Amino acid sequence: MAVPRKPAGETRRDRKYNPGKTNIFQTDFLVIGSGIAGLSFALKACAFGDVIVITKKENYESNTNYAQGGIAAVQDENDSFELHINDTLECGGGLCDLKAVEVLVKDGPQGVKELHNWGVRFTRDKEHPERFSLGREGGHSRRRIVRADDLTGREVERALLEELKKKPNVMVFENHIAIDLITKPAGSGQTRCVGAFAIDRQAGGIKAYISRVTLLASGGCGQVYLHTTNPAIATGDGIAMAYRAGARVANMEFIQFHPTALYRNEERAFLISEAVRGEGAILRRINGETFMERYHTMGCLAPRDIVARAIDHEMKTSGDKHVWLDCSPIGAEKIRERFPNITAECLARGLDITSEPIPVVPSAHYVCGGVITDIEGRTNIEALLAAGEVTCTGVHGANRLASNSLLEAVVFANSALKTAVELLEKLSHDEIDPRQYQYGKVCSTDYDGVFISHTREMIRLTMWDYVGIMRSNKRLAEARKWIKAFSEEIEASYLSSPLNPELVELRNIAQVAELIIRCALLRKESRGLHQNSDYPNRNDKKFLRPTVVERKN
Ligand code: FAD
Ligand code: SIN
Repeated sequence: MAVPRKPAGETRRDRKYNPGKTNIFQTDFLVIGSGIAGLSFALKACAFGDVIVITKKENYESNTNYAQGGIAAVQDENDSFELHINDTLECGGGLCDLKAVEVLVKDGPQGVKELHNWGVRFTRDKEHPERFSLGREGGHSRRRIVRADDLTGREVERALLEELKKKPNVMVFENHIAIDLITKPAGSGQTRCVGAFAIDRQAGGIKAYISRVTLLASGGCGQVYLHTTNPAIATGDGIAMAYRAGARVANMEFIQFHPTALYRNEERAFLISEAVRGEGAILRRINGETFMERYHTMGCLAPRDIVARAIDHEMKTSGDKHVWLDCSPIGAEKIRERFPNITAECLARGLDITSEPIPVVPSAHYVCGGVITDIEGRTNIEALLAAGEVTCTGVHGANRLASNSLLEAVVFANSALKTAVELLEKLSHDEIDPRQYQYGKVCSTDYDGVFISHTREMIRLTMWDYVGIMRSNKRLAEARKWIKAFSEEIEASYLSSPLNPELVELRNIAQVAELIIRCALLRKESRGLHQNSDYPNRNDKKFLRPTVVERKN
């Protein structure tokens, strides 16, 4: 819960960054995040009330914007709901919630249709232009992935933002980073969410957005790890905020490492889509040998956790710094036509993938856990709904099936809408006195940047080294020790100094790291994306359930 604090005494620093009172805005629906979950919800919610979307940076900046492969949904007569459900369950290592998976898969085609109706230009089949071209990725028994070339997410963001411009009662506030949820007691021990505090990065002040219903759609947390395919916004803010407010969080140990990120030392690892393997590219050791046939009958198209682990194992045993992704079986012409973005991005980095193999390594990519929701988007906090990567709906279990994530976001944002509309009728603004919501802290641009950047890098390195693809009790204990020490420093700094967006993110990164480690320590077995060498086997007797953490624990 965001506890209003005593205002910090005015200092020289305070004056630099527009301190003063918290400005207050009221709305029916507050949406935190402008990825596919937040935007698709906003587009529908505005038919029932006013919507404010706050988003950390530019309106398009999100994990969604970088999605390559596409959206998995049953599209033709060679496929069936049953097959898509089975593939999802098979990937999920026994931990998927069957009911949630059924909703995901059965509502999938409608979700794709809605995106298409909003103007998303999915690539069409060359020979049958009345159909969408379907890609294939790891763990899928059929071609069922609709896409917009190899830049699906960018096209989704473009279309949804374009559509949103037509809605007069939706306001999108860019460069607004939510700090904490605003909550109040709701009777019978429940907590109710009445909005969120945010920093306006440009003006510098703190604002309170008071809402009847809040949708948390703030995405994932790849930035908790040193090497990630996620952009800088992915610092797990929503998971940390919800946890602090009392939300139940689950399955944080299941961090998905994408097997094939381009091997380069870059701020955000450039992804080489699994669809490249779907078209025939082959993984090889540096000495040219193939290896995936030793790990799984599906070879290079095995589920993602297995491929990432195999690469990690091969690299550790050989001492090599990467493996090769050999695209020659696809052929130069098809590579250029099917993967124009990947071809161009690699070329810009001096690599011609039509004639050279791609050096690849695994990289942190997706969090399968998050804030627990039911299949209608409810969290355990009244009037706080959630959708997209920030959630744990139960569909991914211990390992997400490729391209089920954009699908999950659009399907469950739609389910959350129905709940949101019901809540709107039930909860009025009159119950909330907005004047009481002052954050009690001021902002400053003048802060200890070295402390923040150093601690951020140390946390990311700790997580990479000790809480990566292969874990052990010793490594987890080591990580817990370091993260605890960093968290204490961060909390002290948070309490004693003026606020700024970087400190907000650092605090959240530390919080999410702690949750990942805690869940990993609770799961004393190896399953899906969580592999612990001290418990090398799956233990269905004891651990066929999610790992749930709550603040009061
Ligand atoms: P996001 O799209 O990440 O949006 C989150 C939003 O919340 C952003 O606008 C962010 O700025 C905002 N936000 C975060 N914190 C705050 C805060 N404190 N205050 C205000 N705003 C905040 N999945 C697939 O299904 N298919 C794919 O092909 C695919 N390819 C991928 C490729 C890459 C490189 C990556 C990184 C991911 C890929 N994924 C793919 C995963 C998928 O893109 C994401 O899981 C999905 O887009 C999440 O959508 P979302 O709306 O939940 O979150
Ligand atoms: C990819 O294109 O390989 C990413 C797909 C995903 O993360 O689902």
